[in-house]
Amino acid sequence: MARYLGLATALAATSALAFTPEQLLSTVRRGAADPSPDGTVALFTWSQYSFEKKKSASGLNLIDLKSGKISESGLNASEVNEVAWLPGTETGIIYINGTNEEVPGGVTLWIGDIKTPNTSTLVASLDAPYSGLKVANTSSGDLHFLVNTLAYPNGTAVNPETEVTPSHTGRLYSNVYARHWDTWLNKNRYAVFAGTLSKNSSYALAGKGLRNLNHGVNFTATQSETPIQPFGDSGDYDLSPDGSLYAFVSKAPQLNKANYTASYTYVGAFASSEVPVAFNGPDSKAFKAGHQGASGLPSFSTDSSKLAYVQQDEDYYESDRWILYTVDVAVKGSKVAVTNWKSLSAGFDRWVQGPLTWDADSKSIYVTAEDYARVKIFNFPITADKNFVPKPLTSNTTVSSFSLLPDSSLFVTGTAIWTPTEYYTVTNGTKKTLFDASTVDKNLAGLGSHTVSEVFFNGSNPKLNQQLHAVVVKPTFYVKNQTYPLAFIIHGGPQGANMNSWSNRWNPQVWADQGYIVVAPNPTGSTGFGQFLTDSIQGQWGGWPYYDLVNAWEYINKNLADVDTKNGIAAGASYGGYMTNWIQSNDLGKKFKALVTHDGISNTEAAWATEELWFIRHDYNGSIWNSDAYKKWNPQNHIANWSTPQFVVHNSLDYRLPESDGLGLFNILQARGVPSRFLSFPDENHWVLKQKNSLFWHKEIFNWINHYSKGQPLDDEPIGH
Ligand SMILES: *[C@@H]1O[C@H](CO)[C@@H](O)[C@H](O)[C@H]1NC(C)=O
Ligand SMILES: *[C@@H]1O[C@H](CO)[C@@H](O)[C@H](O)[C@H]1NC(C)=O
Ligand SMILES: *[C@@H]1O[C@H](CO)[C@@H](O)[C@H](O)[C@H]1NC(C)=O
Ligand SMILES: *[C@@H]1O[C@H](CO)[C@@H](O)[C@H](O)[C@H]1NC(C)=O
Ligand SMILES: *[C@@H]1O[C@H](CO)[C@@H](O)[C@H](O)[C@H]1NC(C)=O
Ligand SMILES: *[C@@H]1O[C@H](CO)[C@@H](O)[C@H](O)[C@H]1NC(C)=O
Ligand SMILES: *[C@@H]1O[C@H](CO)[C@@H](O)[C@H](O)[C@H]1NC(C)=O
Ligand SMILES: *[C@@H]1O[C@H](CO)[C@@H](O)[C@H](O)[C@H]1NC(C)=O
Ligand SMILES: *[C@@H]1O[C@H](CO)[C@@H](O)[C@H](O)[C@H]1NC(C)=O
Ligand SMILES: *[C@@H]1O[C@H](CO)[C@@H](O)[C@H](O)[C@H]1NC(C)=O
Ligand SMILES: *[C@@H]1O[C@H](CO)[C@@H](O)[C@H](O)[C@H]1NC(C)=O
Ligand SMILES: *[C@@H]1O[C@H](CO)[C@@H](O)[C@H](O)[C@H]1NC(C)=O
Repeated sequence: MARYLGLATALAATSALAFTPEQLLSTVRRGAADPSPDGTVALFTWSQYSFEKKKSASGLNLIDLKSGKISESGLNASEVNEVAWLPGTETGIIYINGTNEEVPGGVTLWIGDIKTPNTSTLVASLDAPYSGLKVANTSSGDLHFLVNTLAYPNGTAVNPETEVTPSHTGRLYSNVYARHWDTWLNKNRYAVFAGTLSKNSSYALAGKGLRNLNHGVNFTATQSETPIQPFGDSGDYDLSPDGSLYAFVSKAPQLNKANYTASYTYVGAFASSEVPVAFNGPDSKAFKAGHQGASGLPSFSTDSSKLAYVQQDEDYYESDRWILYTVDVAVKGSKVAVTNWKSLSAGFDRWVQGPLTWDADSKSIYVTAEDYARVKIFNFPITADKNFVPKPLTSNTTVSSFSLLPDSSLFVTGTAIWTPTEYYTVTNGTKKTLFDASTVDKNLAGLGSHTVSEVFFNGSNPKLNQQLHAVVVKPTFYVKNQTYPLAFIIHGGPQGANMNSWSNRWNPQVWADQGYIVVAPNPTGSTGFGQFLTDSIQGQWGGWPYYDLVNAWEYINKNLADVDTKNGIAAGASYGGYMTNWIQSNDLGKKFKALVTHDGISNTEAAWATEELWFIRHDYNGSIWNSDAYKKWNPQNHIANWSTPQFVVHNSLDYRLPESDGLGLFNILQARGVPSRFLSFPDENHWVLKQKNSLFWHKEIFNWINHYSKGQPLDDEPIGH
């Protein structure tokens, strides 16, 4: 203890930095741990970037679920793409090997046991780079499985080694949605494929191989695609534990993808070749009752008799409340009978999120939901009615994933501002930490919950019945009776939140350890505080949230004695970047010494260059030609007020918000003599993901704020004249 105190004092005295960007970026990144069927061990992947070696290492490790001891799994992460547990066994595995010696560009399936991983046997050769393996053991002993990959319009999987490409580079479109996130669309779409491994032939691939389940789904506007790109994954489909049924989510076939968020859940009988049918599409009872938005997370019950899923009501609002539903499902000949549609979370003013995890008796479903800046686990009995409000089963961490162990304990992978990974169990309400990265990884030495607190302040909207929340993070080397300049960090979305969670991109402790007190508010538009706060931002981008932030600043100025507001800075990405530009355009901008905008809108009247037109139509309360919100909240209509030094980041592969917004902002700041810099990465999208790029991003942004807030010298890094 004394040694650590000594270290903190030494750091403060020399104003050395505690948690640096280099340390953040070269910290081990561990994935969610997945427990074996017998609940003895869990498997997780890790990767670690080394600036010295200029490359990443990766591995597949085991954590013992009694002792927390971590060991090598014996599987080589350079060869094994992903591992699933073999249902019906104790520690059996089935994994995807990234090499296929017969079909270059394909992969292979191997079966073995984690206790003797080097005795696994190759069972099937697959002709394309499939991923997202889900497996069920059937009563005959045959294994049914689902995987996904990109497919041609005729349904055949695309193998990149032999891919058929056009002879020219032109991209021709006749519909909106030419590009999305960081990718221009072509005619290929992702699809779910089904296969059977026959028990009586040592689990060789049965029949004609894999079957594309999306192929044949009729459409008038949008071709069926699963997982939904770019963020969909194997959570977009499921296989019943008895192997008799499958389900997947795909976007509404009659609606244009740029205009609508709506998606439906399709179910089919595994043994039938009939095209699957959506049970919540336009002909359904659910649709007619007004539940017409995106659906997702199809999850079969343990006894294969029910399907749980989530859905939003509105068909073009991505931040509508996600509600939990169940239906009864049964194979009837070649079709699936879907009955007894029921909502379980109508009375819960939070978004139900995954994984949707059924208990062993198929009597209740464990879910996660964001609640007051954390993601917590909740349980819904299948008898829940519209008045049911569950109590959280976890507290301070943000749950990234969880599973149920055979003894009904929860096994959780979580994060917090002070740790990138905590693995823990919750047994009858008692938490037991098995592993906490911050107590082990050298790069994280000194991090802990002692730097983190939260404050509440009044919102600006008189209709709001609650106070607003902000996260406060002090430097690791914080010394009492000193003040630290304010770093006011505004989140993106706008339907998002500053949370008690780890981030590799906007890590509040890294900002605080530059010698700031970070205050990260959750104004109007934020999620996890009830749907009213989220919804209230519609048509109000520069309205309620801006005045909420003015209130937050005044609260800090009056109440947080250790925060130096005279030398503060404000920064934000995406909507947070827009808001930083709006702050520059209004009085609050004068309260800061410097501003940082990352990939934010500066010209709302150009907002239709985005890809998700539903988003801007919803948030701006109408289309560009029929809503005055585009003009009303436009930072570029307030250029005369721009005067605070501003650092502008905008990346070339950002199709969410094109880089013309960053360039326009920078050019205007320069032309008007406002100190400014422009940073653009040609190989990054809305996010900066490459470690070396991220290091440069941190170095240049911190140089800027440390200059204007603390008088440190500006570097000579820019390209110049
Ligand atoms: C892991 O696999 C890679 C690629 O096959 C190989 O080069 C490497 O030597 C293997 N590592 C170990 C520890 O076996
Ligand atoms: C699959 O289930 C059958 C029937 O319950 C059982 O006999 C068999 O051992 C299981 N197979 C595997 C691989 O678990
Ligand atoms: C993966 O496949 C390659 C090629 O068949 C083989 O040499 C290697 O041993 C396999 N690795 C594992 C872990 O299955
Ligand atoms: C397989 O792994 C076991 C335990 O790690 C080891 O004892 C054995 O020598 C290995 N066998 C081969 C063929 O590599
Ligand atoms: C599907 O289309 C691809 C690309 O044009 C082609 O290579 C493949 O042979 C086609 N598959 C079938 C079954 O026709
Ligand atoms: C496996 O058994 C099934 C019946 O259960 C039979 O239809 C099939 O032909 C068998 N396959 C092989 C390869 O023996
Ligand atoms: C798809 O449309 C075609 C042509 O209208 C029709 O023949 C077919 O039955 C439809 N299939 C499904 C699964 O609805
Ligand atoms: C998309 O939505 C706009 C309204 O923003 C509407 O005018 C247009 O007709 C829609 N287009 C399609 C293909 O649905
Ligand atoms: C949890 O509590 C119940 C009821 O008190 C008890 O029966 C059960 O054994 C406990 N579970 C564990 C894993 O301790
Ligand atoms: C949970 O977080 C709050 C606010 O940061 C803090 O006051 C409290 O001590 C934390 N509780 C635990 C158990 O860490
Ligand atoms: C916040 O709101 C409460 C309740 O309306 C009020 O009593 C209090 O004075 C307000 N605080 C500030 C700083 O405005
Ligand atoms: C901090 O400042 C307060 C008020 O000026 C004073 O009472 C207190 O003794 C100081 N504490 C330390 C540790 O310097």
